Amino acid sequence: MSEPVNTKASSPSPILEIRELKKSFKDTDVLKGISLSVDKGNVVTIIGPSGSGKSTLLRCASFLETVDGGDIIYDGRYAVKDGTAAPKKELSGFRSLFGMVFQNFNLFPHYSVMKNITEPPILHGCGREEAEERAVSLLKKMGLEGKEKA
Ligand SMILES: Nc1ncnc2c1ncn2[C@@H]1O[C@H](COP(=O)(O)OP(=O)(O)OP(=O)(O)O)[C@@H](O)[C@H]1O
Ligand SMILES: [Mg+2]
Repeated sequence: MSEPVNTKASSPSPILEIRELKKSFKDTDVLKGISLSVDKGNVVTIIGPSGSGKSTLLRCASFLETVDGGDIIYDGRYAVKDGTAAPKKELSGFRSLFGMVFQNFNLFPHYSVMKNITEPPILHGCGREEAEERAVSLLKKMGLEGKEKA
């Protein structure tokens, strides 16, 4: 399930490769064989009309949806092969390779700004102090300095 697809040191694997990805909801074929490749350090934009499947593609790539066919390969390792996902334990390792900002943000309204930012890394094993330091630095970067308690 996770054999390397490219072992040549001189030609590193893309950080994400999707091959012939298929996903349908009942009678609606949404992803009909999507292939794309993202190299490390590159920014890729997926554009298309509402309902064309952008969110579905991202949800499949982040394992929030099962797929019906195709491969999802992170950093040379299969997370999904021929439509079959790697075991749950293995998938959680792949999850550390990406982050997702949801269309509707999915922030917790009863949490402070600081808690919304620090809870996910803390849940993934980051120390509270380090998470808070990173949060302060990120807020500053975004021009949101001093909003920690909001
Ligand atoms: N859980 C689901 N069950 C059934 N159909 C779904 C489900 N999720 C998405 N769809 C359908 O899949 C198609 C693609 O939806 P998707 O949300 O991926 O589009 P999108 O490109 O992200 O649209 P938008 O630009 O509006 O965000 C739509 O026809 C949608 O109704
Ligand atoms: Mg969408």
